[in-house]
Amino acid sequence: MSFFSYICKLNVQKNDFIIMGVTKHIKKLFKSSTNAKDKILVTGGLGYIGSHTVVELIEAGYEICIVDNLSNSNIDVLKGIEKITGVKPIYENIDCTDYVAMNKFLAKNEGIRAVIHFAASKAVGESVEKPLMYYRNNVVSLINILELMPIHKIEGIVFSSSCTVYGQPEVLPVTESAPLQKALSPYGNTKQICEDIVRDTVAANPSVKSILLRYFNPIGAHPSALIGELPNGVPNNLLPFIAQTAAGVRKKLKVFGNDYNTPDGSCIRDYINVVDLAKAHIAAMRRILGGEVEAVETYNVGTGRGLSVLEILNAFETVNDVKVPHEIVGRRAGDIEQVWADPTYANKMLKWKAEETLEDTVRSIWKWQLHLAEQEEDKETTKGSKMLSGS
Ligand code: UD1
Repeated sequence: MSFFSYICKLNVQKNDFIIMGVTKHIKKLFKSSTNAKDKILVTGGLGYIGSHTVVELIEAGYEICIVDNLSNSNIDVLKGIEKITGVKPIYENIDCTDYVAMNKFLAKNEGIRAVIHFAASKAVGESVEKPLMYYRNNVVSLINILELMPIHKIEGIVFSSSCTVYGQPEVLPVTESAPLQKALSPYGNTKQICEDIVRDTVAANPSVKSILLRYFNPIGAHPSALIGELPNGVPNNLLPFIAQTAAGVRKKLKVFGNDYNTPDGSCIRDYINVVDLAKAHIAAMRRILGGEVEAVETYNVGTGRGLSVLEILNAFETVNDVKVPHEIVGRRAGDIEQVWADPTYANKMLKWKAEETLEDTVRSIWKWQLHLAEQEEDKETTKGSKMLSGS
């Protein structure tokens, strides 16, 4: 029943008893609705997807608290967020595997209504070499947060899952009901385990609600070029490698395989603009805080469009008018041939849709790469002038 029809009902039923009941219901209506200043905890909020989501959350009117251990990010990201939004969110350098520190942080910042949990390790290859690090970081962090939620009266959690849980789907585009396949890496396995942990926890404690977002391949940067992807060392992911090669930081891009069963022989993925992906979190948050989530909901967050490695490489070169030296090499172990999302369920339930064009997305990546290069130059100049002045 709408709020308006409730007020109408209130006018015709003058009986005190009914009014008391209605008042109680109105209070409940307000309690389960979102309001502009709801406080949200974002773990890993200085990371790639986290920082873009924090910007969108602030612009949507939420109050943000961030914890991030800077293991794959940089404190400068906080300045970028502040420059874009004009707001400096609360931030502490905390590792989510540290239960005591997390408990202290939540006690200090009381009133947090929900959490978006990004903080996790995400390099597939590294997870094969250091499985225990991945299980500890990704699984223990989540357990800590889920344990702390009822203690601090946190109502909901949005969890960063991945399309990796589908493995190579038999039917494309893949829907949320596709069967999950045995993970090919400890990283992928942590995502499957974490999804199960959330489901079991919510089943045992219905006061907690959750949305699991299965990300496809996030790419791009904020249009301001003040935040973007900051890979540590040699990038594993395709787009940072393409951008660095175009900028001359890397000599040549290796295209892993052109003998796949796809139209041009290279792998196909669903590349989604990171700002679109960030906006999916706002939609998920509204749904959780609006009391619309019964228990756990799972959504594919993708565009619905599959692009091959060679197609995206070509788009990057054409739109930015740059050359990316590349060579075709053998397949990369563990790569899936092709996967792209059917995002219909997310479009409908979250009232969200990926909107950025591929052209704007690859343009934003190049703009961000040029911004990084400028920053590097500035650092070198400052270092040089300090050496000259002997300071
Ligand atoms: C994988 C996971 C994803 C995870 C991400 C984290 C799957 C399906 N996806 O993404 O869940 O979040 O890692 O890092 O398991 N490529 C090249 N040359 C390069 C780099 C990549 O040709 O130098 C190709 C890859 O072979 C692949 C495509 O580009 O076909 C995308 O690779 P990448 O960006 O690493 O992402 P995924 O492996 O799809």
